[in-house]
Amino acid sequence: MAGSVHSSPKQAGGRRIGVLGAGGFLGSHLVPAVLARVDCEIDAVDIQFGKLETSDPRVRRLAMRVEDPRTITETVERCDVLLSLTALCNPALYATRPLDVIDASYTDLVPLVKACAARGRRLVHFSTCEVYGRAALDARAQPMHEMSEEHTGFFLGPVDRERWTYACAKQLLERVIWAHGRHGDLDFTIVRPFNVIGARMDFLPGVDGEGVPRVLASFMNGLLRGEELRLVGGGAHRRSFISVEDFVDAIVRVIERPAACRHEIINVGNPANDVSIRDLGAQLARAFALRVPGGAPARFRDVSASELYGEGYDDTPERIPDIRKARRLLDWLPQATMAEMLPGIVDDYVVRYGHVVNSPGARVRRVGDR
Ligand code: UGA
Repeated sequence: MAGSVHSSPKQAGGRRIGVLGAGGFLGSHLVPAVLARVDCEIDAVDIQFGKLETSDPRVRRLAMRVEDPRTITETVERCDVLLSLTALCNPALYATRPLDVIDASYTDLVPLVKACAARGRRLVHFSTCEVYGRAALDARAQPMHEMSEEHTGFFLGPVDRERWTYACAKQLLERVIWAHGRHGDLDFTIVRPFNVIGARMDFLPGVDGEGVPRVLASFMNGLLRGEELRLVGGGAHRRSFISVEDFVDAIVRVIERPAACRHEIINVGNPANDVSIRDLGAQLARAFALRVPGGAPARFRDVSASELYGEGYDDTPERIPDIRKARRLLDWLPQATMAEMLPGIVDDYVVRYGHVVNSPGARVRRVGDR
């Protein structure tokens, strides 16, 4: 941008990468993966670090809030590359705390975009597949099988369907980032994750969070407590799940390939793992029964969206990523099938939560045994 002063951060050796939201699910997997493959030091910024299990001395933990202006100023000053992962990414919050969702996805991050543009820092921003909205539609509003970065429009619901506050805020930030790149000189890459699942995802209600987590943790909560797995609309809706290991592999490649990924928006997901939510529940229940044998069979209950989420919810019946661009730019292909990834995920929840879940069920009393 005209008049901006670009200076490299002062440091010896490799790069310094700032990870905003390093203590969350994705950040806690990404930080060790980056350290293993990139010559760098990491400023890990978050308000809690319980999930970030690494003890690598190259990680500096900074307990700071992203909405505090000093967090942006100081991190952008120190780091060459900024990864922005912070968000309130949980559909149960979109209609109950919409203003917080908009601030976390948009308002609090505009200063980051401006600071990266002004100081010549590379920004790798994590947006969401949710920007595509209710369905994959092309420019003539005709259905598409997969959601494509360049050819699928954004089809959100009306304003009283507050589900879409998150998608709308994320979309606007994408447009701000894009404009800084197109009309200024911001070096950016936008990643759109599609239903990443893995160990340490979300929370268990009543243990380390409150409310309804996303579907994986929601179903693990039911299985661990011996409670029903609730299927919104009968569980007919579909998602394409990608393992967090495949996901972070793609992101490390984004970091390693700044020229190829400059000014690109990239879907990162696994179209081969397109399953119904009912099927996800059945597969998780089977993996859980193998890990914790002897319990009663899992029970499923059909619920309405308003019963689970209250008013203002809306949904995407099917969400399949077109990953041709990721394959081309990153020389990458997701590997893990559902059958390969679910046992490890179930094991993580059993080990982490089995002994603390407060339930009279015999099955739950046994889950701490490994
Ligand atoms: C959420 C976010 O809104 C996206 O922005 C994000 O990209 C995505 O997660 C993700 O993980 O990547 P969504 O896929 O709708 O989107 O999230 P879930 O809460 O995991 O819901 C998936 C489906 O399961 C929905 O149809 C939901 O109604 C259903 N569900 C959820 C149940 O049937 N039972 C539950 O207990 C929870």
